[in-house]
Amino acid sequence: MGRSSSAFSAVLCLLLLLSAGYGQLDYKFYDTTCPNLTKIVRRGVWSAIANETRLAASILRLHFHDCFVNGCEGSILLDESIDFKGEKNASPNRNSVRGFEVIDAIKANVEKACPSTVSCSDILTLAARDAVSLAGGPFWFVPLGRRDGVTANETAANTDLPSPFESLGNITAKFISKGLDSKDVVVLSGGHSIGFAQCFTFKSRLFNFDGAGNPDPILDESLLTSLRSVCQNQDDSNSNLVPLDSATSSKFDNSYFKNLVNSSGILLSDQTLMSDNKTAALVLNYSKYPFMFFKDFGVSMTKMGNIGVLTGVDGEIRKNCRVVNK
Ligand code: HEM
Ligand SMILES: *[C@@H]1O[C@H](CO)[C@@H](O)[C@H](O)[C@H]1NC(C)=O
Ligand SMILES: *[C@@H]1O[C@H](CO)[C@@H](O)[C@H](O)[C@H]1NC(C)=O
Ligand SMILES: *[C@@H]1O[C@H](CO)[C@@H](O)[C@H](O)[C@H]1NC(C)=O
Ligand SMILES: *[C@@H]1O[C@H](CO)[C@@H](O)[C@H](O)[C@H]1NC(C)=O
Ligand SMILES: *[C@@H]1O[C@H](CO)[C@@H](O)[C@H](O)[C@H]1NC(C)=O
Ligand SMILES: *[C@@H]1O[C@H](CO)[C@@H](O)[C@H](O)[C@H]1NC(C)=O
Ligand SMILES: *[C@@H]1O[C@H](CO)[C@@H](O)[C@H](O)[C@H]1NC(C)=O
Repeated sequence: MGRSSSAFSAVLCLLLLLSAGYGQLDYKFYDTTCPNLTKIVRRGVWSAIANETRLAASILRLHFHDCFVNGCEGSILLDESIDFKGEKNASPNRNSVRGFEVIDAIKANVEKACPSTVSCSDILTLAARDAVSLAGGPFWFVPLGRRDGVTANETAANTDLPSPFESLGNITAKFISKGLDSKDVVVLSGGHSIGFAQCFTFKSRLFNFDGAGNPDPILDESLLTSLRSVCQNQDDSNSNLVPLDSATSSKFDNSYFKNLVNSSGILLSDQTLMSDNKTAALVLNYSKYPFMFFKDFGVSMTKMGNIGVLTGVDGEIRKNCRVVNK
C-alpha cells in the first residue's frame, strides 16, 4: 500500500469518525439509524404516566441518579451481578428509586424498531425530558449518542448522590464535583415540583429538630399540622408518602419555588435554599417568573445529561438495560 493511499485511508477514517459524532453528543445521532426513536420514547412515557401520574417524577429522578454516579451511562439500570453490586441497593436508591419497568418497556419497543442501536442511557435521558414536558413543564432538545457503561458502583452511589440531611454547602460541593454549579442546584431542585417523599426523609423537622422536642421553627404552621397527620412520631409511618410540592404535586410548574418563599418546602435541603442570599434571590425569581424557571431548567438538565457520558467506541449498546451484554 502506497504512502498516499494510506494517508487517504486515514483521512477517510477521520471523516467517518466525525460523521458518527465520535467523542461528542449530537442532536441528529439516530436520525438515520432510528428515525422513530423520539416517538417511541414519548409514547412509552405517555402511557406510563396515563396509568400512574407519579411515574413522571420517578423517571426524572432515575435520570438524575444515573448521571450523578459514574456519569449518564445507565449504571443505575443494571441489576446486581456476580461482577458488581448494583446501585439499586445503595441507600439513596433502595426502596426509593422506581420506574425501571417503564424504561424496560420502552427499550423493548426501541429494540423492535432498531435492534442494538440505541443506548439505555439515551433512552433514559429522552424519557426524563418527556416526563417533564408531559407533566406540564418545559421541552428542550436532547443531544444523543451516549453509550452504556459496563459496570455499576454502589459505593459511588452512596457517596456522590446528595442527601436531604446535608448542608447546602455540601450539596453544592457535590454538584460542583460533577461540573455543575450553585445555580444548577437551585434550578434542578425545581424537579421537586413533582413526585413524593417518604416521611423519614424530613421527619426530623416535624418532631425533634433541636433535640428538645421542637419542630423546625421555619416550617409553616399549617403545613406542619398536615405533615404530622401523615407522618406520625413513630417508625411505622416512615415510608408514608407526602407530595414534594404540596400545592400542585402532579403538575410541573414553579409552585415549588413559591412554597419555599412561604416556608412550605418539604425537605430540609429544599427549604435551605432560602438560607443563603444568593440562592434565595434565584428562588424568588423563579417563584415570580415561571418562564425563567422553565428556560433555565432545560439548560441545567442538558448540562446534567452531559455528565461523564461515554461516546464513540467506549462502553456498549446494551440489549437489555438490566444486564451488561455477554
Ligand atoms: C439537590 C439535592 C437533592 C436532594 C437532597 C434530593 C432528595 C430527594 C429525596 C430525599 C427524595 C424523596 C425520596 C424518597 O422519599 O424515597 C427525592 C425525590 C425526588 N427527587 Fe430529589 N433530591 C435532590 C435533587 C433532585 C434533582 C436534581 C432532581 C431532578 C432534576 C430531583 C428529582 C426528584 C423527584 C422527581 C423526586 C420524586 C420521585 C418520585 O416520586 O418517585 N431531585 N429527592
Ligand atoms: C416509523 O413509524 C411509522 C409509523 O408511525 C412506520 O410507518 C415506519 O415504518 C417507521 N419507520 C421505521 C424506520 O421504523
Ligand atoms: C398500571 O399501574 C399499576 C400500579 O399503579 C400496575 O400494577 C399495572 O401493572 C400498570 N399497568 C400497566 C399497563 O402499566
Ligand atoms: C467506585 O466509586 C468509589 C467512590 O467514588 C471509588 O473510590 C471506587 O474506585 C469506584 N470503584 C470502581 C471499581 O470504579
Ligand atoms: C459536610 O461534609 C463534611 C465533609 O464530608 C462532613 O464532615 C459534614 O458532616 C457534612 N455536613 C453535613 C451537614 O452533612
Ligand atoms: C404558600 O404557597 C402555596 C403555593 O403558592 C400556597 O398554596 C399556600 O397556601 C401558601 N401558604 C401560605 C402559608 O401562604
Ligand atoms: C443576607 O441578607 C440579609 C437580609 O436579608 C442581610 O442582613 C445579610 O447581610 C445578607 N448577607 C450577605 C452575605 O449578603
Ligand atoms: C432575577 O431576575 C432579574 C431580572 O428579572 C435579574 O436582573 C436578576 O439578576 C435575577 N437575579 C438572580 C439572582 O438571578
